[in-house]
Amino acid sequence: MEFRLRVWRQAGPDAPGGFEEHVVREVKEDMSILEVLDQLNQDLVKEGRDPIAYESDCREGICGVCGLVINGVPHGEQRKTTTCELRMRHFFPGQTISVEPFRAGAMPIIKDLMVDRTALDHLIHSGGYVSTRIGSSPEANTIPVAKQDQEEAMDAAECIGCGACAAACPNASAMLFIGAKVSHLAKLPQGRPEAARRVMAMSGRMQELGFGNCSNHYECQAVCPKDIDVKFISRLNREFIKALFKKRN
Ligand code: SF4
Ligand code: FES
Repeated sequence: MEFRLRVWRQAGPDAPGGFEEHVVREVKEDMSILEVLDQLNQDLVKEGRDPIAYESDCREGICGVCGLVINGVPHGEQRKTTTCELRMRHFFPGQTISVEPFRAGAMPIIKDLMVDRTALDHLIHSGGYVSTRIGSSPEANTIPVAKQDQEEAMDAAECIGCGACAAACPNASAMLFIGAKVSHLAKLPQGRPEAARRVMAMSGRMQELGFGNCSNHYECQAVCPKDIDVKFISRLNREFIKALFKKRN
C-alpha cells in the first residue's frame, strides 16, 4: 500500500512549524503508524535529510510516550488504541494522513512531533504515590478491600500517563489524568491516609503548570487509549470538596 503523510515539522520550540508532505510506499497493513514513520525516516536519512523527531518506547500500549495527533485526533480515530498500536489496515490505501504533535500549552513542542511531557511527571511528583508505611506483602493481604473498590481502583490504574486527554480538551485540562491517579489511590486503604493532601497538591500543581479545568466536553474519555471514564473526574471533585472540609475543620 502507499500513503501520503502530511507531517508537522518544527526545528525547535520557538521555530515556526508547518506541514511537509511525503509519499511512503510498500506499507504493509499490519505496520503501525510509527513503523511507517520509521520507514520514512530511513528514506530521509538515505537522502541526507533531517529525520522526523518523535518518541516511542514500549510500542505495545504501556508506556504512554508515543502520542501523536493523527488526522486531527490524539492517538487517531481508532477507539482505545495508542499511537504505537494504530495499524495501517485502519486507513484506506492512498489516503492522506496528517500527523501532528499533541498540542497543549503545558506540553510544549521540543521538535517536530516530540513534546515535553515533564509537566505530567511534575503532577505525579506532587502526590500521585503512597508514602505511608503499609507493611510487608503478607500484611497487605490481610487488609480486606471490597470487590467493587478493587475493580474501580484497577480501572483507574490503567491510565498510562500519555497526556492525550489534555491534548484533546479545549481547556487543555489534565483532570482525567489526575482524576485517575487520585481515584486509584483513594479507593484503596493504603492510599486513603494521604487522600486529602494528594488531591489538594495535585489539583494545585495542575493549575500552576498551566493545565485548564474540566468543562464537561468529554473529549478526554473519547480519545483515552485506556478508556478511563469521566466518572473519575467526578470522584476527583468529590475528593477535593472532602479535603476542603477537612482543612477547615
Ligand atoms: S487518562 Fe487516558 S488519555 Fe489521559 S493520560 Fe491517562 S491514559 Fe492518557
Ligand atoms: S510506545 Fe509505549 S504506549 Fe506507545
